[in-house]
Amino acid sequence: MWIRTLFCKQRFNWDSTIGYNGTLDDFNESTDDRQRFVTMAVLPILTAPDRRLKQISKPISEVDNALRRLMDDMAETMYDAEGIGLAAPQVGVLKRVICIDLHYAHNDDGVKNPIFIANPVIVHASGEIVWKEGCLSVPEYNSEVTRFAHIVVQGWDRDNQAMEISGEALLAVCLQHEIDHLDGKLFIDHISVLKRSILLKKLKKQKEEK
Ligand code: NI
Repeated sequence: MWIRTLFCKQRFNWDSTIGYNGTLDDFNESTDDRQRFVTMAVLPILTAPDRRLKQISKPISEVDNALRRLMDDMAETMYDAEGIGLAAPQVGVLKRVICIDLHYAHNDDGVKNPIFIANPVIVHASGEIVWKEGCLSVPEYNSEVTRFAHIVVQGWDRDNQAMEISGEALLAVCLQHEIDHLDGKLFIDHISVLKRSILLKKLKKQKEEK
């Protein structure tokens, strides 16, 4: 597993009440702790069955400050829920953006290294792998899913730069899972029709009881 681009440099000022309070030149300055963007929000996560999780998300024309804000909120939401990946439609935003961090939820060192990809496209896929998956939008359910074992994804990073990431094992699985969300697909769409309909009925009932 290797990653060509490193992400989330978080080099700009943001004040939640007045928005971005620097100039575009700030993006070229080096990272400084005092400048770090710290006011992030935990967003509500949609759970199945929800019509919005079945929609096809729209491409991003540019990674601007508003989108960076969304990316950071998605990361915060993912960390709060102890997930390793999140796609924008899961927080009700139908835009082609995903966020992944395989490290944070599985380690106690508090290190956060989110990978943000706008308009992710799989440009290479090979092999086959079976992984037991779960999803923040499908509470308390896991199932084995067959995916490509190795993939290469291209897209745009948090700085609006072209990026490419190659992954195998869990990273490959996670990338495919999150990209699926952008096409209105959940991991349970890969399981049998019967299993899925039983599960969705159960989830619907749980929602109604709340
Ligand atoms: Ni998911």
